[in-house]
Amino acid sequence: MDRTQVAIIGAGPSGLLLSQLLHLNGIDTVVIERQSGCYVASRIRAGVLEQGTVDLLLRAKVGERLSSERLIHDGFVLGFAQGTLRVDLKDLVGGTVSIYGQTEVTKDLMDARAAAGARMVYEAGDVSVEGFGGKAPVVRYSQGGRVHELACDFIAGCDGYHGVCRRSLPPGSLQTFEKIYPFSWLGVLADVPPAAHEILYSNHERGFAMCSMRSLTRSRYYVQCPADDTLEAWPDQRFWDELRWRLPANVAEVVTTAPPLEKSIAPLRSFVVEPMKFGRLFLVGDAAHIVPPTGAKGLNLAAADVRVLYQGLVEYYRSGSSDLIDGYSEQCLRRVWKAVRFSWWLTSVTHKFSDDPFAHRLQLTELDYIRGSTAALTSVAENYVGLPFEEPA
Ligand code: APR
Ligand code: PHB
Repeated sequence: MDRTQVAIIGAGPSGLLLSQLLHLNGIDTVVIERQSGCYVASRIRAGVLEQGTVDLLLRAKVGERLSSERLIHDGFVLGFAQGTLRVDLKDLVGGTVSIYGQTEVTKDLMDARAAAGARMVYEAGDVSVEGFGGKAPVVRYSQGGRVHELACDFIAGCDGYHGVCRRSLPPGSLQTFEKIYPFSWLGVLADVPPAAHEILYSNHERGFAMCSMRSLTRSRYYVQCPADDTLEAWPDQRFWDELRWRLPANVAEVVTTAPPLEKSIAPLRSFVVEPMKFGRLFLVGDAAHIVPPTGAKGLNLAAADVRVLYQGLVEYYRSGSSDLIDGYSEQCLRRVWKAVRFSWWLTSVTHKFSDDPFAHRLQLTELDYIRGSTAALTSVAENYVGLPFEEPA
């Protein structure tokens, strides 16, 4: 039977980053991914990195292109009926965020793993995980017309919200927390210069809209749409018109349009499972938690989980101590829940939940209060740049 030290299920950002960091610390991994490498590399996702995530990517020796191509933003903007409010991250908390697409992060990690000759299994079928309650976990998968068995010391479930690992845990062993939002995001990627110089979140009576970017020539825009809406209901011109309606006038008037490179609708949910560890199986990133994209926390939370797990596994293999991995779930969840709270809060003050004028006025009042309170602005800023990591004990 084939063997490795850590079997990693999923080659998204979580799995790739974990594999790279463990490799750099002399720990053998096999990454088992059900999609093709091309499919993984082509996925369009978010694009805001906390400095802690940037630091971890640099530590993983995949930060060269990131360092040269990223845009560093020291603020972001909230738009609402009373005008716009800039949250000055640098002035308030001495922080910044980096604009660098998750697609690029994934490509950089895939390139690094390939250059290192990593054991990557793409297009793996019928992946199953077992034995993780004991000391001899086994991963099985089909490929090339036969079933493969991989013995390992640990399994990292980096297989996302729809993955197999969380679903393989014994019934009743997990507590699930979930909130489904009554709307989705319609996103467009287009090769046009960004209308706003910084990320802008707009609360409008017609619904939420947002301006982001991938570079100074490639923009990412979103509008809130009904949860059951379809792309067919959104021809390009309708999207551009609705985006302009919902943005502050000075931004709307400089929106440049072009046929989208990508257009997609994604539902919004908050989701957390507890615990994130079961024996020798660890749930990492989207496999354990989902946040509405409003706070730009999805990728950053995944990286934070990886940071805790890789440090714990390095300690285990170097000293035999399992203290850090035993505390994996509790440490990750302390950060996860704070990010879930912030993402829920920013979604709640920027999106249209109903036609209730009282609810809308409360949102505007909260934004107006924040605009006038350094204490409130500082709270928003410290959450947006990413709360400090807990250093290993
Ligand atoms: N077997 C093997 N691989 C699987 C399986 C399975 N049964 N199920 C899912 N996968 C793969 C998916 O194809 C995907 O490549 O696991 C990977 C999970 O990657 P992500 O969903 O990107 O999750 P994660 O790596 O934790 O990254 C979180 O990605 O989805 C965004 O918003 C999210 O930015 C966040 C980041
Ligand atoms: C994006 O660029 O896709 C993006 C940026 C910030 C968010 C969400 C998405 O909060």
